[in-house]
Amino acid sequence: MPRPKIFYQCQSCGYSSPKWLGKCPDCGAWNSFVEEKNITKLRKAETATPVILSEISSSTGIRYSTEIKEFDRALGGGVVPGSIVLIGGDPGIGKSTLLLQAIRGLTKLGKTLYVSGEESPEQIKLRADRLTFKSSNVVLLPETLLEGIISVAEEIEPNAVVVDSIQTTFSSDLLSAPGSVSQIRECATKLMFFAKKHHIPIFIIGHVTKEGAIAGPRVLEHIVDTVLYFEGDKGGPFRILRAVKNRFGSTNEIGVFEMSESGLKEVENPSELFLSERPLNVPGSVVTASLEGTRPLLVELQALTSTSGFGLPRRTALGVDYQRVNLLVAVLEKRIGMHLGSMDVFVNVVGGLRIDEPSVDMAVVTAIASSFKNMAVEPNTFVFGEVGLSGEIRAISQAEVRIKEAMKLGFKRGVIPAGNANNIKGLNIEIIGAKNVHEALEILFF
Ligand code: TYD
Ligand code: MG
Repeated sequence: MPRPKIFYQCQSCGYSSPKWLGKCPDCGAWNSFVEEKNITKLRKAETATPVILSEISSSTGIRYSTEIKEFDRALGGGVVPGSIVLIGGDPGIGKSTLLLQAIRGLTKLGKTLYVSGEESPEQIKLRADRLTFKSSNVVLLPETLLEGIISVAEEIEPNAVVVDSIQTTFSSDLLSAPGSVSQIRECATKLMFFAKKHHIPIFIIGHVTKEGAIAGPRVLEHIVDTVLYFEGDKGGPFRILRAVKNRFGSTNEIGVFEMSESGLKEVENPSELFLSERPLNVPGSVVTASLEGTRPLLVELQALTSTSGFGLPRRTALGVDYQRVNLLVAVLEKRIGMHLGSMDVFVNVVGGLRIDEPSVDMAVVTAIASSFKNMAVEPNTFVFGEVGLSGEIRAISQAEVRIKEAMKLGFKRGVIPAGNANNIKGLNIEIIGAKNVHEALEILFF
């Protein structure tokens, strides 16, 4: 047996070095180097056969449905055979539950293999009972050795495989511990070859680190075809499945679920849900129409301003970008003359949702102003628009889709960018265009 070669590898990006380093020269992570031992094995060369482009049968468009609409939507319209889908999320958020429900639809096409390195078949059975899921087409395999998983999969020829989780799976070709970057990379690569060779989808569950990224993030995200994050507030019932990378569909597509006593339920009209407990006529609360992928979503944004007890006021942003909130606070100070310099400002998107598009600016500005002035926004009014540094409100994309969603939920008035308002015609709703923040706040509060 060759002597194992010892080297040190960054657990965040996979950079390797013959010496231990305090800071990774590649990704800049501190204290991320771990000793790894590898035996370099000579691999049997497997050469691929070249094919002529025009002779390849077109398999685009073939997708399997999981029969969960929200899951199919996040995947870009169903799962593509031969692809690898990575699902990441906090422990206990419901990843195992989601995938057990997802393979339910796939069992109609044949056998599926559920590999669990974390739970015994009895534990999985208990979960399946809660989901009232019985099928002779699901094969459970409590295994962590990758070669074992592959040989079972080769034997039973499933039409989909779930590996729960990639951090507990290890390959006997490497000496490093399960969960290390080299093991994760090796296992994911081998699973990818298996998926492509047998033309079946493989779902991999990945744990996330304290910082909220999938452990071994860069290496894993490069290898797989699709990366989905399952997010939400563990205390609350809502869960959001968000695509962050998708070779077969658009990113930013989301699926919305509610965790119930008997598993995850799809939420077909999330706008209604996110607004269901909205307090009416309360200062600091405003509704905005954001766009998640192709889907308009109405959400409530809340802000609270209070006199700061410390010299340095606090700014907190949940669900919106922190830097963006700082910028908008500065716009309110400088352009509107609101004295927020001695105030703590808290901003929160209700329901554990995250909004990353600039159209949310107007909602942030309105909610902060509403709390600061202690004046409520009229409850049937919604706002959206991007705010620039000189306080101007800029037009955004797909205004009409957003307005129609608001109309569906009974909103009567929208305060939107003037640039968008000029193009909206023939809708049975009051639309007011505002050129700058000053104008918008005049309309909303006087
Ligand atoms: P699980 O799928 O085990 O999470 P993960 O794989 O991400 O660690 O789900 C864990 C939580 O979901 C657990 O706290 C119990 C809850 N749960 C329900 O509320 N209802 C259900 O029907 C099921 C199966 C789980
Ligand atoms: Mg689990």
